Amino acid sequence: MRNRKFSRFAPPLATASVLVLALSACSGGSSGGSGSTSGGDAASNVDGRGPITYVQGKDNSDVVRPLVDKWNAAHADQKVTFKEQSDSADQQHDDLVQHFQAKDANYDVMSVDVVWTAEFAAKGWLQPLKDKTALDTSTFLPATVKAATYNNTLFAAPVSSDGGLLYYRKDLVPTPPKTWDEMMGMCSIAKTNNMGCYAGQFQKYEGLTVNAAEAMNTFGGKIVDDSGKATVNSSESKTGLGKLVEAFKNGNIPPEAITFKEEDSRTAFQDGKLLFLRNWPYVYNLASKTDGSSKVADKFGIAPLPGMSGPGASSLGGHSAAISVYSKNKATALDFLKFLTSDEEQKFFATQGSLAPVIGNLYKDSALTAKLPYLPTLLTSIQNAVPRPVTPFYPGVTKAIQDNSYSALKGEKSVDQALTDMQSALVAAGAK
Ligand code: GLC
Repeated sequence: MRNRKFSRFAPPLATASVLVLALSACSGGSSGGSGSTSGGDAASNVDGRGPITYVQGKDNSDVVRPLVDKWNAAHADQKVTFKEQSDSADQQHDDLVQHFQAKDANYDVMSVDVVWTAEFAAKGWLQPLKDKTALDTSTFLPATVKAATYNNTLFAAPVSSDGGLLYYRKDLVPTPPKTWDEMMGMCSIAKTNNMGCYAGQFQKYEGLTVNAAEAMNTFGGKIVDDSGKATVNSSESKTGLGKLVEAFKNGNIPPEAITFKEEDSRTAFQDGKLLFLRNWPYVYNLASKTDGSSKVADKFGIAPLPGMSGPGASSLGGHSAAISVYSKNKATALDFLKFLTSDEEQKFFATQGSLAPVIGNLYKDSALTAKLPYLPTLLTSIQNAVPRPVTPFYPGVTKAIQDNSYSALKGEKSVDQALTDMQSALVAAGAK
């Protein structure tokens, strides 16, 4: 069953406003003058122009470097330096938090995962994109704008969306499975071919939250309901998480997948070691390479994630670019955001990195769909994707999901116990 509802995680109003107030009170510039041009509040440096730094996770598909070169060739006095982080979502998050806490004016523009918007915005670290720093979002997919918005204010420019896809070996499985159980039934084909059957991302990090949430949502569970109440301890979530646990137990998910992040799982699939892979669209271009790096270049297809009786529910992924309130050159930063979200550069994200554009019309662009035939499947995945809980307290929420689903996958806790503990950890993290 598809779960199309937006799982809004609303902290009690009083707590939320106290938090925002307390944090904005201490977010003044380094010289301390309120309303001064020293940086550190939304009003400061909005006309500032000059060199800036763009911070983003590992540029796996070599998209950012050429874009930055192109920008720099046209902006000699406002050059962008690309600061490349690791390829792990959690490390990227912690690096940004440390720099924000240090009020670092050198982290001007940063790539913000959709699940960090609420936390960073509530802490007063992101420049609101309104008034002098306003951005037109009319052409963007609504889900991407919603994910960059907090308390009705836009805090970041959607740059790339993300939806889960099923990569499958079309040479071995001519018709992809529509349901999870059907897919598990095909694992005998993997055995015959001496390969693993299915993998996603199961290491204890943000990717596990994505995969566990997908399993639970696909079978009708909900982590939190629309009022922000923790509702994860349900029979539906048990069924969903139970499917992953069972597949680990019976070997349909190979044991090494417990260490997989996106890149490990992509490599395993490209090396011909997996029949099915759950991953994001960026894998398409890399796995299609004919330079010898992929053993499956012309042997794989893309299908919707398999579900209970039809397609499964992807977690909504993606990244936006935000301007730090501490930046000294916010006018340049805003122009860079506009550059990243222009039609031309969004096409480049799609062709160069098979990343999901944020501009809705590009999914109907015939030149693009000819090159990237999976675009309609991807659009459906994104449009039906379920956001992870939206809350300024997301670090505690994702930890509750990761810790407990990881213990269940490793067989250290029963599924029942894992969900009971997940429920209490969600409440301790701020859910009702
Ligand atoms: C992708 C998604 C992001 C998610 C991350 C988990 O980068 O775009 O939203 O949090 O994977 O590893």
